[in-house]
Amino acid sequence: MVIFWAFLWLGLVLWTPRLYGDPRTAPRVQLSFKELLHSGTARPLHFLLNSTDFRILLMDQDQDRMYLGTREFLLALDMHNINREPLIIHWPASDRRQADCRLAGKGREGECANYIRLIERWNRTHLFTCGTGAFNPTCTYIHRGWRSEDYIFRLVPGRLESGKGKCPYDPKEESLAALVNGNLYAGVHIDFMGMDAALFRSLGNRPAIRTEQYDSRWFNDPIFLRARVIPDNAERSDDKLYFFFREKSTEAGSAQVYSRVGRVCLNDSGGKRSLVNKWTSFLKARLVCSVRGQDGVETHFDQLRE
Ligand SMILES: *[C@@H]1O[C@H](CO)[C@@H](O)[C@H](O)[C@H]1NC(C)=O
Ligand SMILES: *[C@@H]1O[C@H](CO)[C@@H](O)[C@H](O)[C@H]1NC(C)=O
Ligand SMILES: *[C@@H]1O[C@H](CO)[C@@H](O)[C@H](O)[C@H]1NC(C)=O
Repeated sequence: MVIFWAFLWLGLVLWTPRLYGDPRTAPRVQLSFKELLHSGTARPLHFLLNSTDFRILLMDQDQDRMYLGTREFLLALDMHNINREPLIIHWPASDRRQADCRLAGKGREGECANYIRLIERWNRTHLFTCGTGAFNPTCTYIHRGWRSEDYIFRLVPGRLESGKGKCPYDPKEESLAALVNGNLYAGVHIDFMGMDAALFRSLGNRPAIRTEQYDSRWFNDPIFLRARVIPDNAERSDDKLYFFFREKSTEAGSAQVYSRVGRVCLNDSGGKRSLVNKWTSFLKARLVCSVRGQDGVETHFDQLRE
């Protein structure tokens, strides 16, 4: 985490357009983490939150803020002054829920807590967020105000909903999510045991759909990484979601893992008969990325990571 925060701070410096130089030249300033602390311009957050589990970083261009999600906490940082006191939401799992989680045999590695795993822009004034909820994924809304000057950041009371198919149960699981036109696209395991992985669409006015259940031709033990909408052309109903993951090969006895890119059409309403509530536009391809060594042997990079 210490290292992470140093990178984060440096990252912010590099993103500032004023300082953004020619990418071919070496950075002009290089600091070790120790030097960074001594410079008085960085402050590690992990003591404050008692967590090193920072997974989500969402830039909010409307309000010049950056959101962080961690164990039981969400933070909003001011991008103009990263050392300003962050706005903090504490969202723990209830004692009852934590006890149930331990009864179910979990918790030896601290999993019986609410790990924030999704923060997405919902509308002009609200964010949508989900946490693992001590192995009971749960989502809710956050009020962030109209303007950045409002400096508001709080949970909306009474708006809890199930996070099944939106957020993982297990904090160690990697997942992906994208909120597009009020529909949430999530690559995640839907069950407590972590067996049923799928790409789900939920929320909003489009029909809820998913990939075929327990069918290794769709997904074979996937690790989901990231999703992005990439328009093909000006025709909005052609827009597609691309998602990146890695998964096991389906060849019998093979331990091979492949990097992949998948694609669905946003305007997919599912099919008929056995394809009701299933994607009809689902496609996936292997991402072939390799270098040839001096001996002519190709080395493939099949372990795609974030
Ligand atoms: C920090 O978190 C750990 C679990 O990850 C917990 O056991 C410990 O009590 C916490 N410490 C404080 C000061 O909250
Ligand atoms: C944004 O969404 C929240 C939660 O559904 C709702 O209460 C609020 O009125 C919406 N705001 C706008 C500006 O649409
Ligand atoms: C989806 O595509 C159909 C044509 O196949 C079109 O009539 C419809 O307007 C599209 N819907 C959206 C929301 O883009």
